[in-house]
Amino acid sequence: MPGARFAPLILVGSPGIGKSYWARRLAHHLSVPTTKIDATGEPATFALVGSQRGWSSAHPGKVMKTILQERHGGPLVILDEVEKARETYSTRGSRHTLTDALLPLLERMTAASWECPFFQIKFDMSWINWVMTANSRQGLPEPLQSRCIVLDLPDLTLEQLRGFACSEGRRRGLPEPALAAVLDIFEGDAVANARLSLRMVSRMLDRAEMLAQLPMLN
Ligand SMILES: Nc1ncnc2c1ncn2[C@@H]1O[C@H](COP(=O)(O)OP(=O)(O)OP(=O)(O)O)[C@@H](O)[C@H]1O
Ligand SMILES: [Mg+2]
Repeated sequence: MPGARFAPLILVGSPGIGKSYWARRLAHHLSVPTTKIDATGEPATFALVGSQRGWSSAHPGKVMKTILQERHGGPLVILDEVEKARETYSTRGSRHTLTDALLPLLERMTAASWECPFFQIKFDMSWINWVMTANSRQGLPEPLQSRCIVLDLPDLTLEQLRGFACSEGRRRGLPEPALAAVLDIFEGDAVANARLSLRMVSRMLDRAEMLAQLPMLN
């Protein structure tokens, strides 16, 4: 096999539970280049596949750019917040949706002879791996869901967050008293009701790291 290939994945879960991080780690372990497209950012369809040559602003998409720059036919494409993608309209009034642009790329048969709108040449895009993320299934187009493996990820438990604080704090070389102060926060009742995420725990560790580096004032 010229590369690793798996069915397109959609990771559905609360913000800050590590979906994007996991996708980047996966690319790292597969030793493939990665590109990230935010479905809510710049017209996502154009970012993904590019635009037709001939327009003054025409450009190839991020996927094609990654393939050419990295000289690798099987990058991992991370598409964030797919459930929030909006439709965009060209100045001529034609409708472009991210799903319309994505479907031919997700299907192996059509992806194998995909025509790039910019270069106007057929490319084999069937070795690309896709990891999409969404905060909920609401808004996820059905045709997209039916072509992907949709994984519903549970929220993290307090114990898992505490474990993360502990291992991440050690990895960063946080002094023991600083780490103990962070772990203390997990003991209180208040924390049980707060919706903590890895992002917040990371920020707590940043703060502890900063405080630990401050000179002691007597
Ligand atoms: N296994 C991990 N080790 C170290 N840091 C991690 C790990 N998983 C996540 N993080 C950190 O936690 C934070 C949140 O992770 P991430 O951005 O992947 O969440 P997300 O699920 O994609 O959130 P959103 O839905 O808002 O995009 C990031 O700062 C990330 O670096
Ligand atoms: Mg994310």
